[in-house]
Amino acid sequence: MKAEAMASSRCGPLGACVLLICAVATAVYTAFPVSVNPCTYSLPRALLAVSGLDPYIVSCAADEDAFTAPLSNGGNDDKNIGGPIVTNLLTCGKPKLPPHALPPFYCCPPMSASEPIDFTFPDPSEPLRVRRPAHAVGAEYMAKYERAIALMKALPDSDPRSFYQMANIHCAYCTGSYRQTAHRELNVQIHFSWFFFAFHRAYLYFFERIAAKLLGEPGFAVPFWSWDVPEGMRMPVEFANASSPLYDPVRNPRHAPPKVVDLEFVRSSVDDKFTDEQQIQQNLRVMYKQMISNAALPSLFHGQPYRAGESDRPGAGTVELFPHNTMHTWTGDLARPSVENMGVYYSAGRDPIFYPHHNNIDRLWEVWRDVGAARGYRGHVDFTDPDWLDSSFLFYDEEARLVRITVRDVLDIDKLRYAYDGVGTPWLDAKPPATPNVNTKKGLLKSVRFPVSLDDVAVTAEVRRPRVLRSRREKEVQEEVLVIDGIETDGADMVKFDVYVNAVEYEKVEPGGREMAGSFVCLMHPSMDGTGKGMGIQTSMRVALNELLEDLGADGDDSVTVTLVPRNGKVSIGGLRIVYMME
Ligand code: C2O
Repeated sequence: MKAEAMASSRCGPLGACVLLICAVATAVYTAFPVSVNPCTYSLPRALLAVSGLDPYIVSCAADEDAFTAPLSNGGNDDKNIGGPIVTNLLTCGKPKLPPHALPPFYCCPPMSASEPIDFTFPDPSEPLRVRRPAHAVGAEYMAKYERAIALMKALPDSDPRSFYQMANIHCAYCTGSYRQTAHRELNVQIHFSWFFFAFHRAYLYFFERIAAKLLGEPGFAVPFWSWDVPEGMRMPVEFANASSPLYDPVRNPRHAPPKVVDLEFVRSSVDDKFTDEQQIQQNLRVMYKQMISNAALPSLFHGQPYRAGESDRPGAGTVELFPHNTMHTWTGDLARPSVENMGVYYSAGRDPIFYPHHNNIDRLWEVWRDVGAARGYRGHVDFTDPDWLDSSFLFYDEEARLVRITVRDVLDIDKLRYAYDGVGTPWLDAKPPATPNVNTKKGLLKSVRFPVSLDDVAVTAEVRRPRVLRSRREKEVQEEVLVIDGIETDGADMVKFDVYVNAVEYEKVEPGGREMAGSFVCLMHPSMDGTGKGMGIQTSMRVALNELLEDLGADGDDSVTVTLVPRNGKVSIGGLRIVYMME
C-alpha cells in the first residue's frame, strides 16, 4: 500500500506500512492513554486508525474501484493470516505489566477440569434484568450492588467467581497473557480493535449473572454510570464512601463527587478550566461528535478489524478512545506511574466502578444502533464479517463452568435477557454551531510541502476533495474521511495537536466548536534502554467529514482547508488526503 501525493498536500514517504512498528511496540504495554504507551491516543471528536495493514487507506489518486475496497485481511497475502481470534486457556501465561505495577503480577484464570462448553442463551422465561442509571436507581438498589461486590470479595481467590478473578479476566485479556492459538508469538488483545464492545459485553454479562446468583436474585442488574447525561456526570456517591466495598483508595482524590467529569481528560489536563455548566456542555459536544459525527461506520465506531495472525491494536473506535479511555484516566490515581487502578488495563477491573462504567459503554453500543435505525444512518450497523462473528472468549459462568462465547452470541441483548432503562440522549442536540467568518483568509494560503514539522506554529494546508456534491445515496454508502498520514514523534514527550477544518482563523472558534474536527494525542513513551530517549512512533489519524462539511456549508467546495494546531510536544506530519470508506 503506497500513500500517494496529492495536489497541494503530500503524503510522506512513510507509507501506512510503517505504522506496524507502532502497533507492535504497543503490544508490549498495557496502558490507557495516560501511561507510557507509544500508541495510545486521546482523540476527542476524532477518528484514529493505527493500522499498519490498513485496508481502508486507499490512494487519493486511485480509481473508483479502490474507493469501494472491501474489508480484507489487511492486504497481507500471508495465507496464515485471517480467521477468528480464539482464546485457549492453555496459552495463558505471564502478563506484560508496566514498570511499578501493583500486585498481583499474574492474571490467568484457574484451570478447568473439563473443556469449555459452548455458550447457550438463557431461557426466554428468565426475568429480564433491567439495567438502570446509578444516579437514579436509589440507595436501596445501590446497596444491592454493594452487597454483590462484598460477596464476590468474600469468595476465595481460587474461585473463578471471586472479585479477584473478575478483575483478573480484564488483566489477562489486555496484557498479552493470552497468545493467539495458531500464532503463539502474537498477543490476544481486546482493546484498540473491533473487539472492544463485544468482549466487554460478554464480560459484563457473566459478571452480572454471578452477582445475581450470589445475591440470590435472578433479576438483579448491574447499574450503569451514565456520565454522558448531565445528571450522571459525577462519580455516584456510593463509590466515594471509604467504608463501602465499592470504594477504591487507588483513585484520583480530586475527582470525588461532586466534581463534574471531563470526558476529554488526559493526564496533562487541567482541572477546573471550565465552570460546571461549561464542562457539562463541553461533555455533551464530545458525546455528539464521538457517537454521531465521527462514528458513521462500523470500523469507525467499533474499531479496526483484527484477525488471527495479525498484530494487536490495529486501531480503536471513537468511543473507546473518548470517553472510554479518558474516563478511565479521569478516575485513576494520577500520583501512580500508570494511573492505577482505573487508568491502566491490567488493574482497571480491581475498581468496582469499572463495571458500571463499562455498563454505560455497553449501553452506548445499543444507543448507536438505535439512533442509526431511527435516523436512517446506514453505517450504524455491526460488522457481518465472520472473522469478527466467530471470534470467541472464555469466561466462567455463575455455576463456575468454563464457557466459550462468540461475538455472534452477544449481538442481541434481548436474547441475553437484559435491557436498559433509558436516560435519554441529550447530547443528540449538542451539535456545536459553525463559527462565521473564520475561513476568509483561505485565498492567501501558501502551499505546504510535506512532511512538515509541527512544533510551535500551526500549519494550514488545502486538501483537494476527489469528489464534490456527492448524492445523498452515495454519502449514505461512503463516508468522506480526512486521513492524516505519517504522524511521527520521537516519544520523548507527550504530543497533542488539534485538527480544524475550514478555520484558518481557528483562534476564533470556541472550545468544542464545529470546526474543531478532532485531536491527536500520543503519550510520552520513554524507551526502555535506559538512555532517557524516547521510542519513535509513527501512526496516522482519521476524521470523518460527511456531516461536518454539510454543517459548514462546504459540500460544494473542491477543497477543504485543514489547520493542524500544535498543543504539546514535537511531531512531524507526512501528509493529508481525503478518501472514501464503506465499512
Ligand atoms: Cu477493557 Cu475499559 O477497558
